[in-house]
Amino acid sequence: MVSYKELGLVNSREIFRKAMAGKYAIPAFNFNNMEQMQAIVMACVETKSPVILQVSSGARKYANQTLLRYMAQGAVEFAKELGCNIPIVLHLDHGDTFELCKSCIDLGFSSVMIDGSGLPYNENVALTKKVVEYAHQYDVTVEGELGVLAGIEDDVAAEHSAYTRPEDVEDFVKKTGVDSLAISIGTSHGANKFKPEQCTRNADGILIPPPLRFDILEEIEKRIPGFPIVLHGSSSVPQDKVAIINKYGGALKDAVGIPEDQLRKAATSAVCKVNIDSDGRLAMTAAIREVLALKPAEFDPRKYLGPARDALKELYKHKVVDVLGSDNKA
Ligand code: G3H
Ligand code: 13P
Ligand code: ZN
Repeated sequence: MVSYKELGLVNSREIFRKAMAGKYAIPAFNFNNMEQMQAIVMACVETKSPVILQVSSGARKYANQTLLRYMAQGAVEFAKELGCNIPIVLHLDHGDTFELCKSCIDLGFSSVMIDGSGLPYNENVALTKKVVEYAHQYDVTVEGELGVLAGIEDDVAAEHSAYTRPEDVEDFVKKTGVDSLAISIGTSHGANKFKPEQCTRNADGILIPPPLRFDILEEIEKRIPGFPIVLHGSSSVPQDKVAIINKYGGALKDAVGIPEDQLRKAATSAVCKVNIDSDGRLAMTAAIREVLALKPAEFDPRKYLGPARDALKELYKHKVVDVLGSDNKA
């Protein structure tokens, strides 16, 4: 059993309290490898932002849970070396069993998500409560979820979304004891968040997605005032990155995300945590494709992973400063 406190990590309680009071949101960026982790830490140190490092089940399989935990411990030391001891949370993204959450808590994670959103309501309550009871013994914070996001990722898949029912949230929070709640108001996972027929097109033929359901968010806020809300599936799918990928041999069709002005608006509400993964994947892939296409003789991975890391860092800084408003809040 390792306590995250010994590793210099923090749980999400205090940073969410401050985000709620200050009307901004904390970035939750997924990482699977060293370059992503370096870019996240460099961007958040330079902007003096707290950050949540997220590890998905897919990341655990790809990179190994133990190695990722040591990388997060390294991230704390790296941030200090860069000159700012920013609050860093190590969070399990989309945990689906009690055993997985327990294993992460025992290894030094400071926060876990138990995603029972696909289960019948009472089973979601029971599973979430069980994780909370274990996690709180070690002062680890827990995110639950009500409502289903559409979208396909390696390990997170649902064909149809179901908005969160505001009439359920008070009961869920009371019965489970969760510290934050992920809700479904129209965001979705991946780079193709909406089908073209769900969107309109602007004069340039760019797809414009349907707006988020701020009415549902407001109703939820009324029922659980001051309670930290989480938005998953919050990539904006920057069209300049999609264009670079497609210019250099990619084949991304009808990729569309959540407009940043809607996320900016959400960040000033009870939304305290915003999950962004796909935008980082796009930035990284665009940079790598460009280098390999323009310099076909290049075969030193540092020569394409380095520019990818630079592009990621710029993307993360933009999210912190221009979208979430968490700069200078460390
Ligand atoms: O919500 C899902 C995250 O983007 C992680 O995706 O399971 O492919 O690592 P992944
Ligand atoms: P995106 O696919 O929109 O980046 O969402 C990531 C996410 O919700 C991770 O849990
Ligand atoms: Zn998610």
